[in-house]
Amino acid sequence: MNKPITILGFAGSLRKNSYNKSVLRTAQEMTPKDARVEIFDLEGIPPFNQDSEDQTPEKVREFKARIRAADAILIATPEYNYSIPGVLKNAIDWASRPYGDNSFQDKPVAIMSASGGMIGGARAQYHLRQIFVFLNMHPVNAPEVIVTFAGKKIDEKGRVIDGETREKIRELLESLITWTRRLRKE
Ligand SMILES: Cc1cc2nc3c(=O)[nH]c(=O)nc-3n(C[C@H](O)[C@H](O)[C@H](O)COP(=O)(O)O)c2cc1C
Repeated sequence: MNKPITILGFAGSLRKNSYNKSVLRTAQEMTPKDARVEIFDLEGIPPFNQDSEDQTPEKVREFKARIRAADAILIATPEYNYSIPGVLKNAIDWASRPYGDNSFQDKPVAIMSASGGMIGGARAQYHLRQIFVFLNMHPVNAPEVIVTFAGKKIDEKGRVIDGETREKIRELLESLITWTRRLRKE
């Protein structure tokens, strides 16, 4: 039996009733037995300023340690103005610094996005993929979890109730686990 895979998940939204937090929690509930998803909340990460990047705030220290301890990363993000939210970019910038201390180095990663509209955050996913190139991360290509019209697929308790969306989330988790084991040559 292979060692269980630890996946660190975080959402690019601080909103209490965030659709993306709901999608992430649903992924956590659906994780197969040979893996677990831990969720990290980006709330409290201060704005990055390179003048003080060597004085890593406690919250960022914890974030970087959790990333390093994880076998794989799972990001659920909204799209803001056709790109990723500042909160997510800021957290990624912190975790990639100081130069030479990029905690994302060599990690497998999968993306999900959700929005109330008909594009479901797809454009933000492609901006994230560009960022992964410099971070030297290894993204899963398929399936793509793009939750369109999220208000119809997530109920008022924050549960993903749409069968097709749940199935895609399950497939993405399996893909991420298989991809992670492949990269480790297990
Ligand atoms: C500043 C801002 C910009 C937005 N830009 C987009 C956008 O480009 N595309 C889109 O589909 N939705 C856009 N939205 C709507 C978000 O997708 C929507 O608020 C979504 O619910 C945010 O995700 P969350 O529920 O996880 O917080 C924007 C929202 C905000 C606040």
